[in-house]
Amino acid sequence: MAKRIQFSRHGGSDVLELVARPAAEPDPHEVRVRNRAIGLNFIDTYYRSGLYPPPSLPSGLGSEGAGEVEAVGSAVTHLEVGDRVAYGTGPLGAYGELHVLPAQHLVKLPDSIAFEQAAALMLKGLTVQYLLRQTYRVEAGQTILWHAAAGGVGLIACQWARALGVKLIGTVSSPDKAALAKANGAWATIDYSREDVVQRVLALTDGSKCPVVYDSVGKDTWERSLDCVAPRGLLVSFGNASGAVTGVNLGVLAQKGSLYVTRPSLGHYANSAENLQAMADELFALVADGRITVEIGQRYPLADAAQAHDALTSRQTTGSTILLP
Ligand SMILES: NC(=O)c1ccc[n+]([C@@H]2O[C@H](COP(=O)([O-])OP(=O)(O)OC[C@H]3O[C@@H](n4cnc5c(N)ncnc54)[C@H](OP(=O)(O)O)[C@@H]3O)[C@@H](O)[C@H]2O)c1
Repeated sequence: MAKRIQFSRHGGSDVLELVARPAAEPDPHEVRVRNRAIGLNFIDTYYRSGLYPPPSLPSGLGSEGAGEVEAVGSAVTHLEVGDRVAYGTGPLGAYGELHVLPAQHLVKLPDSIAFEQAAALMLKGLTVQYLLRQTYRVEAGQTILWHAAAGGVGLIACQWARALGVKLIGTVSSPDKAALAKANGAWATIDYSREDVVQRVLALTDGSKCPVVYDSVGKDTWERSLDCVAPRGLLVSFGNASGAVTGVNLGVLAQKGSLYVTRPSLGHYANSAENLQAMADELFALVADGRITVEIGQRYPLADAAQAHDALTSRQTTGSTILLP
């Protein structure tokens, strides 16, 4: 029997329950992983609340983790029992001692990366890879705006931007978070609880605004984010921490400077084994040479997943959070 967290209805963190189930056997193209560490992500709260529909109920939860291969399907050729692996692209079910998933969603872990680091890094680091290198390919010397800079995705973005010579302005909700973002490479920070984000961006960019703005807060920041984008620049709206952006009047993009908007998702970038591996290689290289280090701000036992969710949604966490099976 193996423990996992599941939910049978949508709601607050109280819908999460710890259950024990027999270990599932992998199908021909699947692998069973014994998780050593599991990543917590904001998207997990969207599936739990029902903002994003899971394929069925009851449903497992979680898309990020790292561990050892325990069983391989008959058609899997590139992995064997005992391999150290990590994943960050689902399917749901990472919150458990065991996870069965398609072999093409797994990458082998370099020996230099520990399981905890990998679980804190895969989904979030791959997200930063595609956002900074593919959705918009940022260039040295550019000034960009990144919301929630002291969060899990945010701290990796701060470090990656610094490594590229990009000046990242990070928004945060407290002086402590500002200091953390700065220590991780943010060029400047804006504490939106006491400063006007648009005015500060105008001041920091000598009035020219940013060629690209990365916004994962959503509803609360949408309008102000558009005001921080330079004419013909891009707003990357990649999350809903404060709620989903709805009812957009496209005319506003013309009024604010012929702006572009995209709403990207990791699954459309890491959409093949080759793309996933290439993205992971770039991430692991930056970790290997020390330009990205993973800040694990919180660790919880798997059984306390509900507590971890509450901490994340009430903004108490910094950096990455992991669950330990
Ligand atoms: N599209 C994709 O491919 C993709 C992939 C991964 C993650 N994401 C998105 O990226 C964002 C960051 O994910 P994460 O797991 O690293 O979370 P996180 O950034 O560690 O936590 C979310 C942060 O958002 C800020 N925030 C602002 N308004 C909030 C509100 N009303 N409620 C809660 N938090 C609020 C808080 O920082 P402050 O206290 O500083 O405001 C909070 O710490 C999420 O929106 C997630 O959905 C998208």
